Amino acid sequence: MTSIKTTTRAALLALLLCGVAAPALAQATQPPIPAILATPEARDIHSYAQPLTARVTHVDLDLTADFAGQKMTGTAALDIAAAPDAKEVVLDSKGLVIKAITDDKGVALPWTVGKADPILGAPLTVQLPKGAGAAKRIVITYDSAPDGAALQWLTPSQTAGKAKPYLFSQGQAILNRSWIPTQDSPGIRQTWTARIVAPEGLKAVMSAEALTPDGEPVAGGRAYRFKMDKPVASYLIALAVGDLAFTPLGQRTGVYTEPSVMKKTANELVDVEKMVEAAESLYGPYAWGRYDLLVLPPSFPFGGMENPRLTFATPTIIAGDRSLVSLVAHELAHSWSGNLVNNATWADFWLNEGFTVYFENRIMEKLYGPARANMLADLGWTEMQEAIKTAGGPTGADTRLHLDLAGRDPDDGMTEIAYEKGATFLRTIEKAVGRERWDAYLKAYFARHAFQSQTTAGFVADLRANLIKGDAKLEAEIGIDKWVYEPGLPDNAVRIQSAAFPAVDALAAAYAKGGAAPAAPWKGWSTPERTRFIASLPRELSTERLAALDKAFGLSAQGNSEIRFAWLELAVANRYQPAVPSLEAFLTDQGRRKFVAPLFKALMAQGDWGQPIAKALYAKTRPLYHAVTRQTVDGIVK
Ligand code: BES
Ligand code: ZN
Repeated sequence: MTSIKTTTRAALLALLLCGVAAPALAQATQPPIPAILATPEARDIHSYAQPLTARVTHVDLDLTADFAGQKMTGTAALDIAAAPDAKEVVLDSKGLVIKAITDDKGVALPWTVGKADPILGAPLTVQLPKGAGAAKRIVITYDSAPDGAALQWLTPSQTAGKAKPYLFSQGQAILNRSWIPTQDSPGIRQTWTARIVAPEGLKAVMSAEALTPDGEPVAGGRAYRFKMDKPVASYLIALAVGDLAFTPLGQRTGVYTEPSVMKKTANELVDVEKMVEAAESLYGPYAWGRYDLLVLPPSFPFGGMENPRLTFATPTIIAGDRSLVSLVAHELAHSWSGNLVNNATWADFWLNEGFTVYFENRIMEKLYGPARANMLADLGWTEMQEAIKTAGGPTGADTRLHLDLAGRDPDDGMTEIAYEKGATFLRTIEKAVGRERWDAYLKAYFARHAFQSQTTAGFVADLRANLIKGDAKLEAEIGIDKWVYEPGLPDNAVRIQSAAFPAVDALAAAYAKGGAAPAAPWKGWSTPERTRFIASLPRELSTERLAALDKAFGLSAQGNSEIRFAWLELAVANRYQPAVPSLEAFLTDQGRRKFVAPLFKALMAQGDWGQPIAKALYAKTRPLYHAVTRQTVDGIVK
């Protein structure tokens, strides 16, 4: 799998769809099919779409957010580029209630919904209008289902203001098919517009240019219009509706959040404009116009989500001391690695996340210096080692960068391997060729593939063509195929170590042996050092040792989510009862899967002590969590 050879059939179809290569079909007005889609590696097993036959190129949404019915209701009009002999277009759908499908003149079109798969949902097949040439338009009238996994409808009590309801969407990986009937495949890029009607008093924001920032009065509320004129993957279409205020952070940056938490949120994010500048100085101009953030209510299931122009972020990064802003650097970096050039299939997920972790760390280094960046990279190395263990050790199939997700939920493959082994691979290339040459390559790579999707094979081919250039020694030194297609960690992996951590580790070891809690050093430590200290303590500690730590550092009352999480993991592993109220509060007050799932797992591993706590607590917290978190925890607490 080292070249992007096309199959005969795919090549033929690509030629047919590409007016240039087939002049006889020059009347075909649709854009040529993106070359990557014609490669066998780009076949997406998590979508029903047949993009070589008919592919969605543009989506116009006109939807009302119905809070009472917990559904989006309205229309999606799709522009479709079809092969000359195409009779139908296949879309993805999950739980949608389809009411009507017509052409753009309102003439009904026949359609069917196929058998639903629990992971993928069901194919929605629509007969294409006849005689419209290659460019076709269809209009779907539908409702989303109240339990659609992409959407979380929050009650006022789940918000900071406690007065108004809130709605947000999460598309990645394959959730958007539960509220948008389109081809939900990361390789099929689509431009889009939306008109969203929200109840009076609530503001709608999306991952696109806001054409009517204050909305326009309409029956039943206000209408907000949006436009994304650059083709994006469908998982990047995102919406939130709530009581939202906005504060500018810089020329082209700003933050949306609820009014009552705006002050501390904006204060935490003062460096965002500088981050954009740092990113641009590394890998080229920011391509999306504005860069804003939306800091969501605490049930947001991820740390962050790189929705174009509008990163969605968890409020658990608002620590009060700006110590967790590497998450912003990460989501911002996705504006290049992920949104400009994104994974063509979920098997190529590491192209999004591995590149982004690498890029994130370069932004952190540029802005805050190598000492801080190296601590973060070093913590990442530990996470990678743990992920390798979890995936069954160095021979585990899921330790490969290019994944085999046949028959699986793409979520299953989304582990720290993609993030940290991916970043380690790029660091290994950087070391082999030198930073200057590597940076020049990477910058040109983003430009070369801007607004296109990419496969692992496509990246490897590009790397060989534009960086390795036949240098056999370099090729052997890096070992590209081993890195991307084989399990485990190659011997040449570049490890970044923090110069500060050995001292932290030594103090942790001393404490474990009975020494006093290192109060003075702790005071001076940054968040990564504190996290490292807790993580490097032995997993087995006496009640007395835990109590002394808790007292010295106020761990159970920690407002820093990363430190609180590290502490609670240790406490649960030791059945440390005094931390249980803190644990229960933490698992009730936020629903970020990265924190919630490991803690429930740790509880369930603690037999007759932990299991009753987990079960009683989950019965209370489950309704508060987003479907993404629920799905994972359902598999843990049984
Ligand atoms: N794109 C991811 C979030 C994601 C991954 C959503 C897979 C759905 C499926 C985002 O960029 C991310 O990686 N978020 C991390 C934080 C980051 C700093 C590592 C998270 O949410 O923890
Ligand atoms: Zn990411």
